[in-house]
Amino acid sequence: MSKFWSNELNKLKPYVPGEQSNQIIIKLNTNENPYSTTHNVKKVLKNFSIDNLKLYPDPDSKKLKIAIAKKFNINYYEIFLGNGSDEVLALAFLTFFRNNIPIIIPDITYSFYTVYCKLYNIKYKLVPLNNNWEVDLTAMNQKNGGIVFANPNAPTGNAHKKSSIIKLLSDQKEHVILIDEAYVDFGSESTISLIHKYPNLLIIKTLSKSYSLAGIRIGFAIGSKQLIDGLKIIKNSFNSYTINSISSAVALSAIKDEKYFNKNCIAIIYTREKIQFALENRKFELLYSKSNFIFVKPINISAVKLFIKLRKLGILVRYFSNKKLKKFLRISIGTELNMNKFIKNIDYLIIN
Ligand SMILES: Cc1ncc(COP(=O)(O)O)c(C=O)c1O
Repeated sequence: MSKFWSNELNKLKPYVPGEQSNQIIIKLNTNENPYSTTHNVKKVLKNFSIDNLKLYPDPDSKKLKIAIAKKFNINYYEIFLGNGSDEVLALAFLTFFRNNIPIIIPDITYSFYTVYCKLYNIKYKLVPLNNNWEVDLTAMNQKNGGIVFANPNAPTGNAHKKSSIIKLLSDQKEHVILIDEAYVDFGSESTISLIHKYPNLLIIKTLSKSYSLAGIRIGFAIGSKQLIDGLKIIKNSFNSYTINSISSAVALSAIKDEKYFNKNCIAIIYTREKIQFALENRKFELLYSKSNFIFVKPINISAVKLFIKLRKLGILVRYFSNKKLKKFLRISIGTELNMNKFIKNIDYLIIN
């Protein structure tokens, strides 16, 4: 708090990201990808000329957009790039949701969404998850100034049926429906193919998870030209050059290596299925995840105790002290080797 801050700032609670620690041996707390990105990126970095750095980057990052457009079979002008999908989300909230009707958000989801609402004074209404801990798209199908949800949801990890999303899109055409697909590449279905039918659909994606590129901070939105043009006006009103030249070159080479991308996602999915099975056998309750993390409820020990014990052994997972989530742990999927070690440690802790 400070007397020099605005009243709004004195009330604001920012999003708190998971810890980045050097002391941790196995880091399973921030949903990063445990595998490196494609080796093609190494070549790009090695050959990157410092001469490029004296110039501003292309404000439109057209080369990168063309590569993304090719991958998703869309037009480059249906893409908006940002410095991580967090920035794209922040700009999207600012662009589309400042009207008088509250936007609809699930009550358990990526906690940044309500942070943006508070930052911009956007009215919002939280809709509870259903009894199966799923985002209740039927209950969210109501009068709104916009609808926001993640598919798969975070931190619960479960994905939604495409038919339920289509029903929502068919009924709600007046305001933007924003679907955050940060984790969609780990086994659920994207709704990108629907952008031409629904001009109010905005999909947010990131290279941080499935492309193992959290460090370069690139995310993007996909939607109709009118949505993308709106985002561009907002972006160009505060910073024309959000994507730096190095990140852009790295992203381009990663996007082009589809074979490595698929291999990487399959490795995570395979390990996730094994871990879910192993934890179910150890009497953990879990929601069936389609993400690169799992959301589990230990039965014989409280979540917080298990979190502390794992931490002492050098294994960091995510614990949320929030009332609704405090019985659960969110565990990112690590390498096959580290997840085997994780299970061995769980066995040791349960016995001791
Ligand atoms: C649901 C969801 N959306 C967006 C993000 C932000 O990703 P980034 O800013 O790295 O692209 C995260 C990060 O963990 C997330 O969980």
